[in-house]
Amino acid sequence: MPRTSRKTTPRLDLPIGVFDSGIGGLTVVRALRDALPGEEILYLGDTARVPYGGRGPDTVVRYARQCTRFLAARGLKLLVVACNTVSAVALDILRVEFDLPVVGVIEPSARAAVEVSRTGRIGVIGTEGTIRSGAYERALGTASTRCEVLGQPAPLLVPLVEEGWLEGEVPRLAVERYLTPLCERGIDALVLGCTHYPVLRPLIEEVLGSLSSHPVATISSADAAAREVVAVLRARELARESRRGAARFFVTDRPEQFVRVGTRVFGVEVESAELVDL
Ligand code: DGL
Repeated sequence: MPRTSRKTTPRLDLPIGVFDSGIGGLTVVRALRDALPGEEILYLGDTARVPYGGRGPDTVVRYARQCTRFLAARGLKLLVVACNTVSAVALDILRVEFDLPVVGVIEPSARAAVEVSRTGRIGVIGTEGTIRSGAYERALGTASTRCEVLGQPAPLLVPLVEEGWLEGEVPRLAVERYLTPLCERGIDALVLGCTHYPVLRPLIEEVLGSLSSHPVATISSADAAAREVVAVLRARELARESRRGAARFFVTDRPEQFVRVGTRVFGVEVESAELVDL
């Protein structure tokens, strides 16, 4: 009986909040909708201030607090920090300052990488900020004592994805340039440590196949985070399994661009996005 009453608490009906520096977090929305189609999602993309990837940690933390405050004020059962750059520098601060379960993308990806890597040589590509922070080294070091982490900033892949430039000579050359040093060092797993990179996964896997003499597994931080959300919500009996949940999108600039690129490049049905101020 008490179990039933707990399931009917209002928190079950609250949405999941997801925020990102811009549009890339739609890869996480997509993974969440596949894993938990019953959940309502409130998404905030800080499109006025994207990219976060080249900014200093203090600025990223300040933006992250503003994004979290905006979503938390609407009532959430859980917050997903879709942005790797934010997860790298602000996650612990958000966990302390906000009374919410907060899931980031780095710890789940690190655990997934350790599971699939046989040699322990794990490559990570991400923004300058993510790689500079050392957050993946720390998370991978916690997940396994025997891994060697090779980080590579790959900032040019973000604008390529936003242009919808997912195949052909230009993105291939960029991907090759970024992955060559990692393949030379013999990685057998590669974390796609940035919101945008899962969209380039087919090309990345093709290039890995041509550069490496052995198979290299790719880990999408979006999929890893979605699996973590499923586990956290089910453990707290907060997962809503039965109905089709809706998603609502907020952005800080250019909603029409968000709708267009979101649908066309990221494959998420974005009917409209509301312009907001943080
Ligand atoms: N969302 C960012 C990330 O995952 C990429 C875009 C940016 O630099 O803001 O790190």
